[in-house]
Amino acid sequence: MTQEETFKALVAHCKEYGFIFPSSEIYDGLAAVYDYGQLGAELKNNIKRYWWLAMTRLNENIVGIDSCVFMHPKTWVASGHVAAFNDPLIDNRDSKKRYRADNLIEEYLQKIEEKIEKEVAKGRKRFGESFDEAKFRETNPNILREKAKYDEVHQRYLNAENNNDLAEYKQIILDCGITDPISGTRNWTDVRQFNLMFSTQVSNTGASDDKIYLRPETAQGIFVEYLNVQKTSRMKIPFGIAQIGKAFRNEIVARQFIFRMREFEQMEMEFFCKPGTEMEWFAKWKENRMKWHVNLGMGAENYRFHDHEKLAHYANAATDIEFNFPFGFKELEGIHSRTDFDLGNHQRLSGKKIQYFDPETGETYVPYCVETSIGVDRMVLAVLSHAYEVQPLEGGESRVVLHIPAPVAPVKVAVLPLLKTDERLTSKAQEIVDILKYDVAYQYDEKDSIGRRYRRQDAIGTPFCVTIDHETLEDNCVTIRDRDTMEQVRVPIAEIHDRLVKATSLTNLLRNL
Ligand code: GAP
Repeated sequence: MTQEETFKALVAHCKEYGFIFPSSEIYDGLAAVYDYGQLGAELKNNIKRYWWLAMTRLNENIVGIDSCVFMHPKTWVASGHVAAFNDPLIDNRDSKKRYRADNLIEEYLQKIEEKIEKEVAKGRKRFGESFDEAKFRETNPNILREKAKYDEVHQRYLNAENNNDLAEYKQIILDCGITDPISGTRNWTDVRQFNLMFSTQVSNTGASDDKIYLRPETAQGIFVEYLNVQKTSRMKIPFGIAQIGKAFRNEIVARQFIFRMREFEQMEMEFFCKPGTEMEWFAKWKENRMKWHVNLGMGAENYRFHDHEKLAHYANAATDIEFNFPFGFKELEGIHSRTDFDLGNHQRLSGKKIQYFDPETGETYVPYCVETSIGVDRMVLAVLSHAYEVQPLEGGESRVVLHIPAPVAPVKVAVLPLLKTDERLTSKAQEIVDILKYDVAYQYDEKDSIGRRYRRQDAIGTPFCVTIDHETLEDNCVTIRDRDTMEQVRVPIAEIHDRLVKATSLTNLLRNL
């Protein structure tokens, strides 16, 4: 299967097994809005719990809050979102489709990169052992030509972005001969700015000052509550405030399943520090967040930092943690050093003093802030896309298995009596359910052959199956089957609780951090 086919199969799998459904499907769905089903909700909650505990329990100086989606409209003036939370959009007159102009150019650049990599792969094949990749890249005429093209377009793109030059975006699209993937034509409109915030009204008078926004990031809820939290928690700088919650963006191009949604969830932490120390904290949080990701066991090679070439107006350092999604390395989490931009602007616009008095030095200042911000849904997609495998088995068969890291798997254990018709087996299985149910998320299943039940559990990523058979009635042992290796071991019932808790608990994952 190609990567695209595998991704399509994953999306279908998520629907078939109750992880993720297109929203309002009975009315043909709503673009870029998805609902989590019974298993998706569990997976998502486990991921959120892993993040929340890593932030608020493993750091004595981080507390968590839960602020509202609706905020005073001035919030978004202070944050810069009213003036500048825009994407450059362009329409194709023939297909009537709308695109992000920057995405069209980025995709064009990505294609050049792919061509270069193909050329390198050809060289490697041709020259075998003696292949000198660095030299090949420096001398191969095809690569040099493509590289020159890339550099020229890339530089123009950066300039257009820096100068917010919409006409230049369009000119690049025309000069590169970028066509609409649907109509195949170059019949483009001019590029326009499009604000991504959704708005609604607080009362029904229809007056323009009734207008409020659905928050496009959770971070501002933290900034406007900074004073309240600092005072009531008696936190001393440096300290952090964490929050998990919904955010809304009217994304122009909403593709790639739950990667880019119009309603999504963020896990954000704002770490307040003394001005001048922010780079030290930025480096610490980069390291800390990468450790959190790698600790899940999805392979360190699947993550990388991508430092921003162009910094947002409020940042003095920024990096993304990118994950190797089925469509390439893409942003999973952003880490920004946001200076005193947000607190400073809220102070100015509200007229309220948002300052910290440092009891040790006697100084008063507006704190600086380092932010870590990750999309819950992107994290769910990272876990599911990494987990999904169609695995060939002996005898020409195959199984679909989700290798979800055990501590975040929606179901940890399946309890399976070998035969549903033997009451001795089913009541023993119920005894096992009673042993496990308070600490381990389980599913009880007695329908169909044991082989089919194993396949069903593999397909939803259950790390362990406990089978109760006739021998159990004699020796009080059960079989525990491992999802990934399919190996089976006999274990005394008295040991299964501790063994399964140890293998699946979030606590042990947190201990490794
Ligand atoms: N407070 C900073 C902030 O919101 P961002 O880079 O715009 O920064 C942070 O968003 C994270 O939120 C991203 O790294 C991504 O994981 C997630 N995210 C952003 N837009 C999203 C969308 N439309 N759908 C799903 N997740 C999104």
